[in-house]
Amino acid sequence: MTASIPPITVPGDKSIAHRALILAALARGESQLRNVPAGLDVRSTQRALRALGVEIREDGGAIAVRGSGGALVAPDAPIDCGNSGTTIRLLAGVLATRPLIVTLDGDASLRARPMRRIVAPLAAFGGEIALAPGGTAPFVVRGNGDARGADVEIAVPSAQVKSAVLFAALNAHGPTRLRGELATRDHTERLFHAFGLACERDAETIVVEGPQVPRAGEVDVPGDMSSAAFLLAAAAAVPGARAVVDEVGLNPTRTAFLDVLRRFGAMVDVTSTGFSPEPRGRIAVRGAPLRAIVVEPAEVPGLIDELPLVGVLGAFARGTTVVTGAAELRVKESDRIETFARAARALGIEVETFEDGFAVHGPAKLHGGAVETKGDHRIAMAFAVAGRAAGVGVRLDDPECVAVSFPGFAGALELVA
Ligand code: S3P
Repeated sequence: MTASIPPITVPGDKSIAHRALILAALARGESQLRNVPAGLDVRSTQRALRALGVEIREDGGAIAVRGSGGALVAPDAPIDCGNSGTTIRLLAGVLATRPLIVTLDGDASLRARPMRRIVAPLAAFGGEIALAPGGTAPFVVRGNGDARGADVEIAVPSAQVKSAVLFAALNAHGPTRLRGELATRDHTERLFHAFGLACERDAETIVVEGPQVPRAGEVDVPGDMSSAAFLLAAAAAVPGARAVVDEVGLNPTRTAFLDVLRRFGAMVDVTSTGFSPEPRGRIAVRGAPLRAIVVEPAEVPGLIDELPLVGVLGAFARGTTVVTGAAELRVKESDRIETFARAARALGIEVETFEDGFAVHGPAKLHGGAVETKGDHRIAMAFAVAGRAAGVGVRLDDPECVAVSFPGFAGALELVA
């Protein structure tokens, strides 16, 4: 099935890149990071780390990070995290156990997103985070440089919250134990090991014993499954169409979308090509007549960024595609339940919304139209896919917003055969 169509590559994995940059910045020694994505979100993390005194430079296609050994310095001005929730929440964790006072801020979308979810668990380390009214950014982190390890309950199924606590634990004395909602992407735990940090995990608990300083290393970032997903979906929705994407990260906490494509009826072929620092491989998809699927709440954390795309595929599938247990969609770069539904309706797709999800009735007779993205990159790309698969014109009000995660997306989409 993979014969003879040229493989496409996608930018490096955003989640892995943020974490690798942060760990490299805290390490002793110089790290080399390859295939760091050029998207604006990861640039926000680089800019923030530079503001904290870390030297980061381009080095022959790689990014070289001279580790601070943990000796970060507080900038005079607020740090602008742009559109990136991962940047602001992970850095809040890093700073919670460092003897610094730092203000973190972001763009209008980031300023509208909930930050209390990190304040409660990070309070266990004794520092203080002063949120803006409404529980949002900008906020001031007064870190506690003498923090002790803590028992922390993770109440929200969010890898950003879990990771914030893991980063805080690195500079606290004694063990930190995390319990609760831990079944989210595990890049932080894996990268801890790649940077020589001990982090024990069993079914119910993650334990990190601090203080620990990462050991500088080399990381080759695999392609981003959440970016590849758009190209794979563009093939899946058209019977006989094909896409092959090379060197995509295949961490099992990120691959639920491949299972979803199979359930819709597309043919999906995965070939493993390596394991360092995470599994990676080639994914080939061939489109077929699709049938509707039901996404169960338990699947949602493994699929959270792909859900607008699941909705788009629902429009091409026979029957009613239902997603529930996904209230987290309401607090992404936009309210992705509302933004998805409005955009879908603008193209003639029949959608019902619930507090925690949506239902799409298919197959829809899509017509061209204007889509309001709310500046949300994943909404923009999902509806570009819809337009291409249906062969109708879709005008995005803000096509540039894709640059936070996938600069060059429009060109890559053209390569789907
Ligand atoms: C991310 C976690 C997810 C995801 C986001 C990236 C991460 O957010 O939606 O795109 O890198 O940890 P939540 O932690 O809010 O679920």
